Amino acid sequence: MQVILRQIGECSVRRAEPRDLIPVMEINLKTLPEHYSDYFYESLLAELPEAFLVAEISGKIVGYIMCKTEYGFSNFKKLGFVKKGHVVSIAVLHEHRRKGIGNALVEESMNGVKSKKCDELYLEVRCSNNEAVTLYEKLGFFIKQRLKSYYRDGEDAYMMAIEFNY
Ligand code: ACO
Ligand code: ZN
Repeated sequence: MQVILRQIGECSVRRAEPRDLIPVMEINLKTLPEHYSDYFYESLLAELPEAFLVAEISGKIVGYIMCKTEYGFSNFKKLGFVKKGHVVSIAVLHEHRRKGIGNALVEESMNGVKSKKCDELYLEVRCSNNEAVTLYEKLGFFIKQRLKSYYRDGEDAYMMAIEFNY
């Protein structure tokens, strides 16, 4: 059964299903220079469906977010080993931006990773990507590190993270 997590006007945010992966890959190809194998999408959906979400308008997928979980050193606690959610990729089709869809995707995926008892959520974003950095900052993420030449074209990334308190 499809559960709608959030409605923003005519746009519904819900968990992705296997049949959504092709349109998700198409949005990724159109909107971002970082691409992944079919297998990687399938494995993220299998491993963390709670935080692999799509935004849909009249049956058309217009945005997605996909995440994974990892164990590692805390971005917040000294000497802490924690369970972390990692936003692998998020995008909204250009014609549907600035309507609150990106915000809803991140907020709902935060609920998803919290349901898996993650202590933190983090991501990397191009330092030049002001839209995305602003979105994450508004949601409470902090820039924790600058990762030199993180991207294949040599651009640096900000590593941004948010801590959850239960
Ligand atoms: N200029 C300034 N601030 C912006 C802009 C912009 N163009 N777009 C979003 N923001 C900020 C604003 O503060 C906005 O709130 P407001 O509209 O109330 O002012 C807030 O972000 C939320 O905006 P949304 O409408 O919820 O975001 P949107 O649906 O437009 O999606 C996204 C944002 C996903 C970053 C979109 O611009 C996009 O798909 N970009 C291309 C792909 C991309 O860069 N993805 C992120 C890469 S990093 C990663 O994947 C981990
Ligand atoms: Zn990453």
